[in-house]
Amino acid sequence: MCPRHAGAWNVLTAAVCMALLGCLQAREPQGHVSVILLGATGDLARKYLWQGLFQLYLEEAGKGHSFRFHGTALTSTEQGQEVIAKVLESLSCPRDTAPGRCAELGAQFRQLSEYRRLKTPEDYLALSKDIEARVQHEGLREAGRIFYFSVPPFAYAEIARSINSSCRPGPGAWLRVVLEKPFGRDHRSAQQLATELGSFFQEEEMYRVDHYLGKQVVAQILPFRDQNRKALDGLWNRHHVERVEIIMKETVDAAGRTSFYEEYGVIGDVLQNHLTEILMLVAMELPLNLSSSEAVLGHKLQAFRALRGLQRGSAVVGQYQAYRGQVRRELQKPDSFHSLTPTFAGVLVHIDNLRWEGVPFILMSGKALDERVGYVRILFKDQAYCAQSEKRWVPAQSHCLPQQIIFYIGHGELGGPAVLVSRNLFRPSLPSVSWKEVEGQPGLRLFGRPLSDYYAYSPVREQDAYSILISRIFHRRKDSFITMENLLASWVFWTPLLDSLAHEVPRLYPGGAENGHLLDFEFSGSHLSFSQPPLEQLVLGPDSTPMPSDFQVLRARYRDSPLISAWPEELIARLAGDIEAAAVQAVRRFGKFHLALSGGSSPVALFQQLATGHYGFPWAHTHLWLVDERCVPLWDPESNFQGLQAHLLQHVRVPYYNVHPMPVHRHQRLCAEEDQGAQAYAEEISTLVTNSSFDLVLLGMGTDGHTASLFPQSPVGLDGKQLVVLTTSPSSPHRRMSLSLPVINRAHKVAVLVMGRMKREIAMLVSRVGREPRKWPISGVLPDSGQLVWYMDYDAFLG
Ligand code: BG6
Repeated sequence: MCPRHAGAWNVLTAAVCMALLGCLQAREPQGHVSVILLGATGDLARKYLWQGLFQLYLEEAGKGHSFRFHGTALTSTEQGQEVIAKVLESLSCPRDTAPGRCAELGAQFRQLSEYRRLKTPEDYLALSKDIEARVQHEGLREAGRIFYFSVPPFAYAEIARSINSSCRPGPGAWLRVVLEKPFGRDHRSAQQLATELGSFFQEEEMYRVDHYLGKQVVAQILPFRDQNRKALDGLWNRHHVERVEIIMKETVDAAGRTSFYEEYGVIGDVLQNHLTEILMLVAMELPLNLSSSEAVLGHKLQAFRALRGLQRGSAVVGQYQAYRGQVRRELQKPDSFHSLTPTFAGVLVHIDNLRWEGVPFILMSGKALDERVGYVRILFKDQAYCAQSEKRWVPAQSHCLPQQIIFYIGHGELGGPAVLVSRNLFRPSLPSVSWKEVEGQPGLRLFGRPLSDYYAYSPVREQDAYSILISRIFHRRKDSFITMENLLASWVFWTPLLDSLAHEVPRLYPGGAENGHLLDFEFSGSHLSFSQPPLEQLVLGPDSTPMPSDFQVLRARYRDSPLISAWPEELIARLAGDIEAAAVQAVRRFGKFHLALSGGSSPVALFQQLATGHYGFPWAHTHLWLVDERCVPLWDPESNFQGLQAHLLQHVRVPYYNVHPMPVHRHQRLCAEEDQGAQAYAEEISTLVTNSSFDLVLLGMGTDGHTASLFPQSPVGLDGKQLVVLTTSPSSPHRRMSLSLPVINRAHKVAVLVMGRMKREIAMLVSRVGREPRKWPISGVLPDSGQLVWYMDYDAFLG
């Protein structure tokens, strides 16, 4: 043999040897695996998990491993055995299994399955001893133990402690614990849970389930992108993708689950997990090697980092009308109880990286909607002009017909999972062993086009998500599970939105087909809003009869000044309209408009409204000032100026020399007295604002009665000649800069915006007190000759 071929020969020999070794190993005993299903008599276990374990047994038995399945719960042995026996009788084999063979396998599986009560640490120890004794008795080697937690999260810590202390397998054998969501309610609680579980298990040992990752079509997204790289490489980006829709609609409501639902709402229940995971699969960069779990997880985290932060205006929320009554009944709440939990949410997500900059990703889910369906739809831009008349367009060739890729997760018109690609895009490649072309269904139209317009593929054998995931746990495919970093990244993304929605009144919808267009929404820039006005309805007690006046913006008086009260949406629209009117008037009379704005969360919706809906606003002649500022750098997310920049300035054209941030960061220091920032701002005001009288000052009211950064129990800024002062806040960041009360009261107009139920108490209190700025600085707001108007939403005003 010539030397050039010798190397190749060696490689070939090695490969044959490896393959042979593999075959030999497959025949050799691989060790004993114990699966312990905790919560084995519960709903999830009965519906999916036992079937998934049976499936695992069917796939793996005969490949060298031996198994034993321990169903456990707190139920007594007799009761538990009875439930389990019923479930085991109902298990099914794949369609292509001969009935005799199925009966035989079923009997084997029942033989290997048992029920036992698992409650105390001693019970766990006894289980461990039994496993060891069996392994020894049968001359086996223990391969590992899988503990599947199908129990509520409050039970996790106790169980984890018992497993860790009394039921770990011996050296050389692995431990895998499988956990079901919810993993926390926000970033803090998720972190707490993670730390707690981390004290018992290594990250490597934990498998956090998101069952959507086991849905066949979802599990196919990355392989599809990989196998169609050639066609997709040029298309999968902002130049070609018009938008992405990630949708999970349900017809069921939350009846029977309201105690869970009240804690999580639709965002915690579905968007934070299922829809976010799908978003990542679509958006992440594709690793070169999909079989590397590490590479997949690494790329996913990178995509998380590129997500643009969500704001209040990134979402619309709704609640089906019957929900409130269900909560009152199931949780024994009084008739006056109003839940603010959203059962519907639409969210607009942007990804700030080169691939996706500017592409809207719409996430939407809800209960009590008109249909049950889940899909991911990637709609491509229509960049063609077709010279021929439409009647001559050929679906497979015309680029003027819609071009889309749809990962159809299930249900809906199609009735099952499928991958659809418009014929005018490309013919996709899918593994033919597991995917087949969908047979034509005459008359069926999907996303505006007949089914025949798509290359459509469905799984050869439909499989349940849990069966797929259980198999992946067994094969240690960690990329189908949620790692701790992944989980926390998702909560970091969702928590600010959840916080900002905490006091938001969701739009009520009747449920089902009657929803009509009530939940349709549209976006403009980063802002999402319902397309139609809400059903006009006030929250009324059981006996109150609605009056016509209940349905209007309420006009009344508060502290002897005009009060405008409405639902938040209307209130903000009204305030924005009033500010615009004041601006137009001031510019007409004096050529400019001096507007001083507060920071905090309430004005965010106002800024967004001004940024998106007020084309007549004379921005070119408007000067923007800050009412107060935190002593942090201007680019810090806590800076009021940063909020103004993010929600308003970057969307409108204000000349930069008309923007006046407070100088809290001078000479690389924050609010140092000797840097004279307050004096500098005061001088700027005196120089540019006639008589130091702003045209309009927008204020808020804190729950302690503070306004601007003038706080109770501190005389600073309440009187005297200073226009701008440095103050101290009871909450962090403590150092602040603020307009003083005298300069506020010199304004032509002062608007005080008060929103949310949290403000109810202080609003009541302040309505009764006199002018006592030392106790409640807001009570000192009374313009010398200008006008004061209060804008309060119903939550703050009526509670
Ligand atoms: C669960 C949610 O995770 O997913 C439920 O808690 C939801 O509220 C369910 O109904 C939907 O799952 P599937 O598989 O029926 O689409």
